[in-house]
Amino acid sequence: MNIFTFPLRFRSKTLWSDPARKIQTLESFSQTEIDAGESILRALKYVNNPHLREHLKRHAKDELRHGELFRKRAQELRKHRPSIASISNKPDRLYNLSRGNVDAELNSHGFFTSDHFEKLGEIMYVAMLNIAEKKAEKSFSIHRDLIRNDLKTYAIFEKILKDERYHVSYTSKFLQQWRKEGRTKQVNEALSFAHGSRLLNTLTRISSRFGEHIGHAILYIVYFTIVIPFALLSKFSCPSKGWSSPTSKLDANQLHSQF
Ligand SMILES: [Fe+2]
Ligand SMILES: [Fe+2]
Repeated sequence: MNIFTFPLRFRSKTLWSDPARKIQTLESFSQTEIDAGESILRALKYVNNPHLREHLKRHAKDELRHGELFRKRAQELRKHRPSIASISNKPDRLYNLSRGNVDAELNSHGFFTSDHFEKLGEIMYVAMLNIAEKKAEKSFSIHRDLIRNDLKTYAIFEKILKDERYHVSYTSKFLQQWRKEGRTKQVNEALSFAHGSRLLNTLTRISSRFGEHIGHAILYIVYFTIVIPFALLSKFSCPSKGWSSPTSKLDANQLHSQF
């Protein structure tokens, strides 16, 4: 048992054992993969290196195909369970390959947005792809292992994993080539930057979750230490509500005027 993959393996078990979550996760994966494919297509217009262009074109096609494979499988499963709610437009709430929130920097696949290719250049973009694809490969192999009892879905993960390995391989080769060309410093900086962005993304996610828990804890404390005790106190100290008989009879003769 790999201790580094244990948390993901543990969390993902429930995704596949619950039929509703299984369908929704496949739909979520589909959107994530399509998002990745479209992101690469958008970045393509800034790529001048013809070899890199060819690989990125194939990469984009692969991601779009993965999205379609997941979507079709979810559709097949949904036929048997039409009442299961479809996922929202925010698939990342269900499952996120980058394990971070969607923001301006990273999409749900852990890719930089296409703007970054123009701003940061090819080395940075390929370093980011390399790290994101390694993460995707690791994540998909865990899901494939957990879905062994569903041969059709298992086969889809097998197919996709072959492509993910190619994505890791070609991006690694480009980084290696740039190192050979004397651009080691740039490659190292790009990898550190890409790792740093992911780390920042993860920390933001953890802190936002942590903040949410702290908020809940404060609400509970306020509720049990202030709201409930004061509500009880006011209940027992207030006179009973409703009509009550006057303590002494009012003498009509004493009423001379209403003012
Ligand atoms: Fe993919
Ligand atoms: Fe990929």
